[in-house]
Amino acid sequence: MTHTIVFGNEKGGTGKSTLAMHVVVQLLRQGNSVGVIDLDSRQRSVTRFLENRQAYAEGHDIELPQPAWLAPLASKRRDAQADADAEEQANLQQALEQLKPVADFLVIDCPGGHTHYAQLAHALADTLVTPLNDSFVDLDLLGQVSADTFEVTRLSHYAEMVWQSRKFRSASELPPMDWIVTPNRVGQLNSRNNERVEGVLSALRKRLMFRFERGLSERVIYRELFVSGLTLMDLAEIPGEGLTRLSHLAAREEVRRLVDRLRLS
Ligand SMILES: Nc1ncnc2c1ncn2[C@@H]1O[C@H](COP(=O)(O)OP(=O)(O)OP(=O)(O)O)[C@@H](O)[C@H]1O
Ligand SMILES: [Mg+2]
Repeated sequence: MTHTIVFGNEKGGTGKSTLAMHVVVQLLRQGNSVGVIDLDSRQRSVTRFLENRQAYAEGHDIELPQPAWLAPLASKRRDAQADADAEEQANLQQALEQLKPVADFLVIDCPGGHTHYAQLAHALADTLVTPLNDSFVDLDLLGQVSADTFEVTRLSHYAEMVWQSRKFRSASELPPMDWIVTPNRVGQLNSRNNERVEGVLSALRKRLMFRFERGLSERVIYRELFVSGLTLMDLAEIPGEGLTRLSHLAAREEVRRLVDRLRLS
């Protein structure tokens, strides 16, 4: 049985692809076989990361664990929405058929926006990971909460979509989805210390049934390694590299901790 992990939310630039890359490499380093589907056919961040990784391994004549990956194209049909949707569904189905037999874990990276691909992927999620920027504003991405009573007054389109995905899974007798919301780029002045944020989060968590896990801090190293296709989990294994700085060790630990907290096994 392949465990499918989907990285999604409707807002762009919150860290879906960055987190996805780190989870992929951590799972590979734990000895798992991993398949990746990059559904962001415009930016192709994960694809570019994996291409950089391959080039680094070849250029330095070293072995780096790699996933099997596919990047299905978005339909170019503009004349009939139903046909475009059917084409994308077939593309995704083909990717699943190719990767599932060879993967313990399947990681799907969604584009930041409401797309048909993203909708299909959410229904496939055994685990859904939604990174948010560590700010009060981003909580609106899930729903609105009354400032006085902390009652949830309105769910976002995205939360409704996750709800529909859960209903679909239940009707199809698939295991329930485990939804993890995680703040990314957590700074020194962590806004979670704010009591109001705690109140809002707690109301949303109860209503939407997600787990809240501390995510990655704001660190330059997460951006820097992209061009070489490496992660902190690789550095210690590469001759001449290594983890020399305390901050890098701390970063590797926070990635490992988050992957543990996803409870994927
Ligand atoms: N923890 C972090 N620390 C520092 N920079 C980060 C961190 N997480 C992500 N970034 C940077 O933020 C930018 C957006 O991240 P990323 O591309 O992963 O987001 P995304 O949600 O996949 O975006 P999109 O919705 O456009 O696909 C990138 O430049 C990335 O390097
Ligand atoms: Mg992305």
